[in-house]
Amino acid sequence: MKAYTIAHIPGDGIGKDVTEAGWEVLQAAAKRGGFALEDTRFPWSCAYYLETGAMMPPDGVEILRKFDAIYLGAVGWPAKVADSVSLHGLLLPIRKGFTQYANIRPHRLLPGVQGPLRREGFDILCIRENTEGEYCGAGGRIHSGTANEVAIETAIFTREGVERILRFGFEQARTRRKQLASVTKSNAQKHSMVFWDEVTREVAKDYADVEVSHYHVDAIAARMVLAPESLDVIVASNLFGDILTDIGAAIQGGLGYAASANINPDRSAPSMFEPVHGSAPDIAHLGVANPIAAIWSGAMMLGHLGEGQAAAEVMSAIESATARGVGTIAGKDGTEAITQAVLAGLS
Ligand code: IPM
Ligand code: MN
Repeated sequence: MKAYTIAHIPGDGIGKDVTEAGWEVLQAAAKRGGFALEDTRFPWSCAYYLETGAMMPPDGVEILRKFDAIYLGAVGWPAKVADSVSLHGLLLPIRKGFTQYANIRPHRLLPGVQGPLRREGFDILCIRENTEGEYCGAGGRIHSGTANEVAIETAIFTREGVERILRFGFEQARTRRKQLASVTKSNAQKHSMVFWDEVTREVAKDYADVEVSHYHVDAIAARMVLAPESLDVIVASNLFGDILTDIGAAIQGGLGYAASANINPDRSAPSMFEPVHGSAPDIAHLGVANPIAAIWSGAMMLGHLGEGQAAAEVMSAIESATARGVGTIAGKDGTEAITQAVLAGLS
């Protein structure tokens, strides 16, 4: 039997609740599909930090390298560990260390989910650059704590980085409605964003079958609210993609539905699959977290592993649960009820 090895990092807060649910669903899908998913659980989290002084061991990234994929819940417990420490100690080093340069986030309404917009439907795939740009970490502070303190955070865009994320976006657009929206702010940011626009025009020459639109980030933010059905694939920088995907999550009904995949398209290292929502410490372990984003992220993991049919089966199990009204209204159904409804679609 074909077996895949999964590094399972539940992380903090509701990360544990939702990946436990997701893992149960993934096991059911594997059983049906005739393959095995074998997980190794890693306790790396803020609790681990408080015990050991680090979010993961110094060779953590290397330990993960041998796995076929990584399934992650959420990272963060800001009351005890500063977010800037926990995220730079676990999530971000994995994304960068494994060159998971494409952060893919699907935004569409599941059947039965209304969302806050008066809209019938939309189907957007946001592709966020995940390794450089505004979140590359270049910068520093001098004269700390004094009146003339200076803080510099430099965004770095490389030709390789910009070109590869755009190519990835064009390839995705080809499998969908063949429309690509490239997002910049080139009217105000005259270096990096003008460069991004230029690279978009160059790469577009290789994809004459895809219709390209250039948007400023403020304008596309409004469009995602006012006319989301007019958008197909969106490609954006790390910061812009981060913000736009929270809008995407909001219009699809909330973060409880927002799935994501951090993909290394070259497959030179494992990819990582995680719901977009954070650890939500206030509702941790109360049994109320919506596991759909984590289950959907798991379906994306199956697709990436080459188990397309199992991925489709998990998606249709999610959709048949929401179509029956389970998990469609925030707080109405708990984690377990939603998980059982999804599992029913896989039995
Ligand atoms: C996300 C999150 C992270 C990000 C944070 C927690 C660093 O907001 O995955 O969207 O911005 O990448
Ligand atoms: Mn975010």
